[in-house]
Amino acid sequence: MAKYIVTGGAGFIGSATVRQLLKVPGAEVVAVDNLFSGKRANLAEVMERISLVVADIRDHENMVKHFRGADVVFHLAAIPSVPRSISDPVPSHEVNANGCFSVLRAAKDAGVRRVVYAASSSAYGDTDVLPKVETMRPLPKSPYAVQKLLGEHYMAVFHSCFGLETVSLRYFNVYGPRQDPSSAYSGVISVFMKCLLARESPTIYGDGEQTRDFTYVEDVAALTVEAAHADGVAGGLFNAGNGNRYTLNQVWAVLQQLEGLVLPPVYSGSRPGDVRDSQADVTALRAAFSFRPQFGIEDGLRRTLEWYRASS
Ligand code: UD1
Repeated sequence: MAKYIVTGGAGFIGSATVRQLLKVPGAEVVAVDNLFSGKRANLAEVMERISLVVADIRDHENMVKHFRGADVVFHLAAIPSVPRSISDPVPSHEVNANGCFSVLRAAKDAGVRRVVYAASSSAYGDTDVLPKVETMRPLPKSPYAVQKLLGEHYMAVFHSCFGLETVSLRYFNVYGPRQDPSSAYSGVISVFMKCLLARESPTIYGDGEQTRDFTYVEDVAALTVEAAHADGVAGGLFNAGNGNRYTLNQVWAVLQQLEGLVLPPVYSGSRPGDVRDSQADVTALRAAFSFRPQFGIEDGLRRTLEWYRASS
């Protein structure tokens, strides 16, 4: 019986990871979340099978206490959003940078074997070449991207200096059920879903021709859990995307088709810190993991839409 910790376990990707871990026979799953953006509701169906610790990842002593006896910590707690990190940089730095260091230090002190880290495709910034490969020099364009990149470096160094097994997965624009659409900083697909169901036009920042490698949350959770036990990956960094890219205009077009309506978007100025194009090179990922994405964009959007419809 292995004990697994998921920081940010009540969040969007964290709760999907918790549900995925419950498929592992004998898994003891502990979600750690301060409920800043995470929600108990995200864990409602599984609450009786897990422990939820409401705590802050920067509370080192408390983290050591809860991490003791754990085999793997999945470090997913973060304050996401590129624009939020620009308009309000202090909290995102404290959680994403200092919090990551705190989690690593606690994992080391508690004798945890491995930490799997939610890194971000934002670390690449704008590159001349697509797809983006792990060997490219990172060019972060926002505080959020810097914070997530710092975490990757700390992961590698806690492996090389302290022998902690670490795996950084650069998630590429994750979307799916439970992504919270209610804030000005919400991920674009969650906002599109909300607009579609309310029959309102979305605002697209820029011309809508920027591209993203949108990755379905259940795929990301499956990969994240595989990273707990994969061989030959300790100290490593891997793109966690599909290897595709779609424009925002294409995504909105698919959604209008699914719903059978026409709602032209409203275009507004580009957001500072916004990356133009994003697409993962998945060569290293495919070589190191058996994981293959199960959900293409249309299937993922359809499932996501059904979830928002059912929960609205
Ligand atoms: C970035 C990272 C992603 C990370 C996320 C965390 C990149 C390429 N990706 O996502 O890996 O998980 O931060 O927050 O850096 N937009 C609209 N209308 C809206 C909302 C957004 O047009 O209502 C646009 C944005 O300007 C952007 C795109 O949609 O061009 C995607 O935005 P968002 O979903 O916030 O994610 P990224 O910033 O791309």
